[in-house]
Formats: sequence, structure tokens, C-alpha cells
Amino acid sequence: MNSKKKIIIAIDGHSSTGKSTLAKQLAKALDYVYIDTGAMYRAVTYYALLHNLISNDHFDKKRLIKELDNIQINFKYNPDLGYAEVFLNDQNIEKEIRQMRVSNFVSQIATVPEIRKKLVLQQRQIGKNKGVVMDGRDIGSVVFPDAELKIFMTAAPEVRARRRYEELINKGEKVSYDEVLQNVVQRDQTDSTRATSPLIKTKDAIELDNSNLTLNEQFDKVLKLAKQKIADL
Ligand code: DC
Repeated sequence: MNSKKKIIIAIDGHSSTGKSTLAKQLAKALDYVYIDTGAMYRAVTYYALLHNLISNDHFDKKRLIKELDNIQINFKYNPDLGYAEVFLNDQNIEKEIRQMRVSNFVSQIATVPEIRKKLVLQQRQIGKNKGVVMDGRDIGSVVFPDAELKIFMTAAPEVRARRRYEELINKGEKVSYDEVLQNVVQRDQTDSTRATSPLIKTKDAIELDNSNLTLNEQFDKVLKLAKQKIADL
């Protein structure tokens, strides 16, 4: 398809608002590439944990920055799943990066400007021919400020914590609802107040509060918006 006929869809918003679910649905319907940028920050966090560079009482930021060139993050499409899985130095880490251990440190990792710079460059490279749906926190504000369609997703913290809790329990993780709620609230705070690329709703983003929307309702709504943008090209 001619790249002129393709758009970039930027999906930003609070954690556990279902950004990736919506992004995957859109990518499938439009035959676009889906990129989960949170997975990239999680991959760096996983690396830092693996190499003992971060824990509850220390963070060796300098060493991690020095080692950034050793961190290769790639996405490989898995036809069985219908989306691309994330690889760290050729190891599939899709499962590992979803664990609470990684969630608890990822916001801290995402505050480091050198890390953001590396990942943003890679994200722009992936999206240079358009035809991508990218979800994250700074896609519409920093990565692709000219994205044709920007969605800002939000929902009440309790609704989001309940969804994430059920997801983790179904995966066999031993967590409490209160622990998950605390993590959701904590991440909102860190993501929105950090100095570099804080989570903001840009003026041209369309806010989608899905506290009371079904997955199908929100998908229909955004797909319609995307098709309109494509038709307007
Ligand atoms: O979407 P997620 O919960 O997997 O993201 C994990 C963390 O990474 C989240 O706390 C914020 C951070 N992040 C970011 O700062 N910028 C992005 N583009 C994507 C995620």
C-alpha cells in the first residue's frame, strides 16, 4: 500500500486502560503494524533487573546508560498470536516483562532521558513509513507529534486495577488487589510528573474514558475515526 494512504495512530494514556488491546484490534483491522512501546521500557527494566542494576534500594543509572548499546530490542511477529512479541538480545521476553517485578521498577527506568532517547529513535524508525499503531505515554506528544490520529485513554484507577488484577491472577501470579491498585496509582503519579516526556494529553488528542465502555464499543468508535482520517488523506 502507498505510505501516503496510511496514517500513524498514536495511543497514549494511563496504565491499564486497555491501550494495547485497542491498538492490537486496530492494527489487525487496518493491516497495520502494532508497536507496544511500554514493552520496550519493560525490556530495559528486565535487563537492569537481570544484571542487578536496580533493586528496592539501589539504581546504578550510570552503568545502565553505559550498557545501553548492549541492549537490542526487537519485535517479531507471531502469527499464532496475531501480534509481534518483544525480544531482548534475541531472547523472547514477552512473558517475563509482564511480571509485577518488572512493573514495579519500569516507571523509574522510564524517567531516564538517555533511555528514552534511544527508544524514541527506534520507534520513529519503525514508524517512518506510517501504517503503525503505537501505544505508550509520549507517542502523540514526542514520538509522532504529527500523528494523524491521537487517542488519549483513561479510566478510573479502581476500574483499571481490577482489570490488571484479574489479568495477573489468570496468569497465575500471586498478587493482591490492593497491591495492584497501589502500583496503578503510583505509576500514574510517576508517569505524569516526570521531567522528561511526562504523560500529557495533547490538544489534538481525542480523550477516551472507557470506565463504562465495552471493548467492542470503543473499538468501533476508534476504527471509525481512523477510517475517516485515512479517507481524508
Ligand atoms: O504501557 P505499560 O504499562 O507497559 O508501560 C510500562 C511503563 O513504561 C509505564 O509505567 C510508563 C512507561 N512508558 C513510557 O514512559 N513511555 C512510553 N512510550 C511507554 C511506556
